[in-house]
Amino acid sequence: MCGIIAYAGSRSCTGLLYQGLRKLEYRGYDSAGLSVLVDGSIEVVRAVGNMDSLERELKGNGHADARLGLGHTRWATHGRPSSENAHPHSDCSGKISIVLNGIIENYAGLKEKLAREGHRFTSETDAEVVAHLIEKHYDGDLLEAVRRTYADIAGHFAFCAIHSGHPQMIAGARKECPLLVGVGEEEVFVASAIPAFLSETRDVIVVGDEELFVATPGEVQVLDLGKKRLDREITRVNWDVGAAEKSGYETFMRKEIYEQPDALIDTIAGRMAAPGQVVLEEMLVSDEALAGIDKVYIVACGTSFHAGMVGRYVLEDWARIAVELDIASEFRYREPVLSPSTLVVGISQSGETADTLAAMRQARRMGARVLAITNIMGSQATRDADGVIYTRAGLEIGVAATKTHLAQIAAIQLLALKLAQVRNSLGPDAIGAIAAEMKTIPGLLADYLKNESATHEIAKRYYRQPFFLYLGRGVGLPVCLEGALKLKEISYIPTEAYAAGEMKHGPIALLDKGSPVVVVATDGHVYEKVVSNIEEVRAREAAVIAVATEGNEGIKAYSDDIMYVPRTSEMLSPLVSVVPLQLLAYHIAQLKGCNVDQPRNLAKTVTVE
Ligand code: AGP
Repeated sequence: MCGIIAYAGSRSCTGLLYQGLRKLEYRGYDSAGLSVLVDGSIEVVRAVGNMDSLERELKGNGHADARLGLGHTRWATHGRPSSENAHPHSDCSGKISIVLNGIIENYAGLKEKLAREGHRFTSETDAEVVAHLIEKHYDGDLLEAVRRTYADIAGHFAFCAIHSGHPQMIAGARKECPLLVGVGEEEVFVASAIPAFLSETRDVIVVGDEELFVATPGEVQVLDLGKKRLDREITRVNWDVGAAEKSGYETFMRKEIYEQPDALIDTIAGRMAAPGQVVLEEMLVSDEALAGIDKVYIVACGTSFHAGMVGRYVLEDWARIAVELDIASEFRYREPVLSPSTLVVGISQSGETADTLAAMRQARRMGARVLAITNIMGSQATRDADGVIYTRAGLEIGVAATKTHLAQIAAIQLLALKLAQVRNSLGPDAIGAIAAEMKTIPGLLADYLKNESATHEIAKRYYRQPFFLYLGRGVGLPVCLEGALKLKEISYIPTEAYAAGEMKHGPIALLDKGSPVVVVATDGHVYEKVVSNIEEVRAREAAVIAVATEGNEGIKAYSDDIMYVPRTSEMLSPLVSVVPLQLLAYHIAQLKGCNVDQPRNLAKTVTVE
């Protein structure tokens, strides 16, 4: 969704801001802009559409002397995508410029009041009120004006402000949306996500929730809402700069699919050190406390929800514990039954998804213990949880999640093993055997990806089809749900994904001669049941595309096309069976000429409800 980058320092900053915005493109946006201080006044350049449109607007207007500025990518919520609604926004005098992520919920009342007081608005956005509030509160002290503005506004947001009277200063605040300060040599960056300044500095200070900051090239201050200065250490980020580049791949999504073996290795590393012992250090829940847990409640959205659904099967199977699962946007408006012995697990790649965060907070308020599974260090989810299991997938740029999904599955499998260990539902030998098998999967996947060509051929046969049905059973169900989501989000082909046993209760009516039906039919205790469902599909002359376990020759009699995956035990099979479905979606989208890295209407990080 929206992205922020700001700079103060000794270098010419228009290019730095522009590059920063390019690095934030993956989050999804529909307009972009920047404001820079040149010769004592602030100049604003904005454009609707992608960064190429902004680049055209900037042509011949490089503002080479600018040393202070703000940049923003906007994903429209209040007000359509237009250059007037694009950020940065200015106050009436044009001396103040702001960029904001999130939503100001009480903006309508504030706007009306400010208009009555004589402020002139030029956009339909909620964000513009922040520029006018800072103008109203400013009496020579930008930080104080920010503080008073923060007190006026409600919602969830992060914003940065500059003032032409303070040529080296960026000030701002955050509530629930992230803001990070990148500290360089005599220069400072502020951004909503680290990739925006990662090529310039790895030294990061996190602005905490409900905190203010003021940054100049020589000094960064993080303060509480009473302006008391807080101690904040600089953290060195060890992400690879190349992670934000395509490294020779045609798209980020393809690169990230091929990075999955490494994402798995890193997520597992060091967590199954001693035989039969699972170590999850950042989880911060003692074995005794974990042994007292009698129910796990998983909440998440989208692809993370599908990882959570895999979690339900493995937690029940290995840890023999009751599991509930809900979409975060539903959970937060229900009255779920939770207690201190419930472990609520919020799964979020970004750690910023508004609904997942709200669900986690609600669970905490209701007395449950809350755990976050996330890929982003220091993200809001980590602050809203009692403990964390980090997926270590590295930066994911493609809007369609792939490697983070696999890492999420591994993380929840580790949690299931940990619970199995403390609940004695599996002995050390059984845990050791599963752990040993998990460690083999990155190698199996790497070999599979090296020799993979079937999915491209299958994609060529089916990419013109108007509809795909996906079926799965048991642990194959979340896999088929994820495969269908991948295809619809990047190729825009309508899909339906169903529990195979449910097909005859409705979706079978959709089938016609030649309709493609993708069936997850890997080996496991429901395999024969899945074959019966395949027979039902074939009886309607639909085309069966099966995901099957290597060595299963029998499936050839029931399928038009087969995507073989390496043999694993049943509960670990999603780690391999989802990969051909990612590739199938990828190739179909490519054949259709779609932008797989930035599908229409989608944002990588959904920070609004
Ligand atoms: C993934 O391909 C999707 N773009 C989307 O469903 C995503 O998984 C969802 O928005 C949740 O995001 P999160 O993991 O960052 O919370």
